[in-house]
Amino acid sequence: MTRRRPERKTRVLAADAAGVEAAAALLQAGRLVAFPTETVYGLGAHALDAAAVERIFEAKGRPADDPVIVHLAEAAELDRVAKPSPTAWQLADVFWPGPLSLVLPRRPEVPLQVTAGLETVGVRVPSHAVANALLRASGLPVAAPSANLFGRPSPTTAQHVLDDLNGRIEAVLDGGPTTVGLESTIVDLTSFSPRLLRPGGVSAEAIEAALGIHLHTASPFRDGPQAAPGMLPVHYSPRTPLTLITGRAARSRLAHEVALELDRGRRVGVIALAEDLSMLPDAVVTAEVGTWENAAGSASRLFEAVRSLDRASVDVILARDLADPETGLGRALADRLRRAAHRVLDSRD
Ligand code: TXA
Ligand code: MG
Repeated sequence: MTRRRPERKTRVLAADAAGVEAAAALLQAGRLVAFPTETVYGLGAHALDAAAVERIFEAKGRPADDPVIVHLAEAAELDRVAKPSPTAWQLADVFWPGPLSLVLPRRPEVPLQVTAGLETVGVRVPSHAVANALLRASGLPVAAPSANLFGRPSPTTAQHVLDDLNGRIEAVLDGGPTTVGLESTIVDLTSFSPRLLRPGGVSAEAIEAALGIHLHTASPFRDGPQAAPGMLPVHYSPRTPLTLITGRAARSRLAHEVALELDRGRRVGVIALAEDLSMLPDAVVTAEVGTWENAAGSASRLFEAVRSLDRASVDVILARDLADPETGLGRALADRLRRAAHRVLDSRD
């Protein structure tokens, strides 16, 4: 297969009315435009144009069996791409616009390129003002995975998008850093009872409270690889090997592992909580994300931290869980850290 590479550089569009209009025209013409959402930057294409959607996979180097989420300007458009159930409307009412994606039966108008051949489609209504303006101006459902090269951490700034995709896509709308910083929560409403496919910006507890039921979890770490399409256990990886330390004694084990690596003559980077900085030797390159108690703060800074340590060309990256891995956004943080990790050390061992 020959792959066509655009020679031109990717245009950076300001997130003003003119930039949004230009981006909308590109989408209508079947071109690729990256845009900010409240979670991460998405790589958008006209969702009902199969050739445009194929370009997403080519630009990202993404395997064709990984389905893409369709973005809508408002919940009222759901019928254009999916067959919503009463539960879908209930969740849409509470959480849209916002960082929740719903997996629903697809309408035949949605090309199989979007859904990776599945009869279901992932849909969400983002709350970011620029995303919303773009969706309205284009008048289109927009298919958009995260705007990174396949396997790299999701982009939370326009610069991250350029670092991965410059020259491979038509344009990026620069709306500044994203706020949530981790991808949307994905709930599958096509199984017997609602299933959490990916923890994310909306907590599982909030969804359970809205529905008054227990949410089943399809975790690739519990159920083996490929519990859901595209849910590969290794994902979001830095180029530098990352060791994650979990469990109750993680803080002291982190200090121990850092000392061991420094003794071996390695350059060490740590994705660090503020409360750990004082225990880390000066030789360590730190990317501070926040505090244990403030999971939202760490979520918004995690992917930039990972990318910054890659740029610092350290030999190894070490981290411990950044918040309670069992609750709220801490669950999404724990999930992304485990996917990024090349090795997980449980401090209870
Ligand atoms: O926050 C987000 O969700 C961001 C922004 C851009 O909206 N998008 C995002 O897309 O994270 P992506 O492609 O990186 O992750 C989408 C994942 C897929 O890998 C797959 O696991 C799941 O969503 N997905 C999409 N459609 C699905 C379907 N029909 N059935 C099951 N899983 C699906
Ligand atoms: Mg992604």
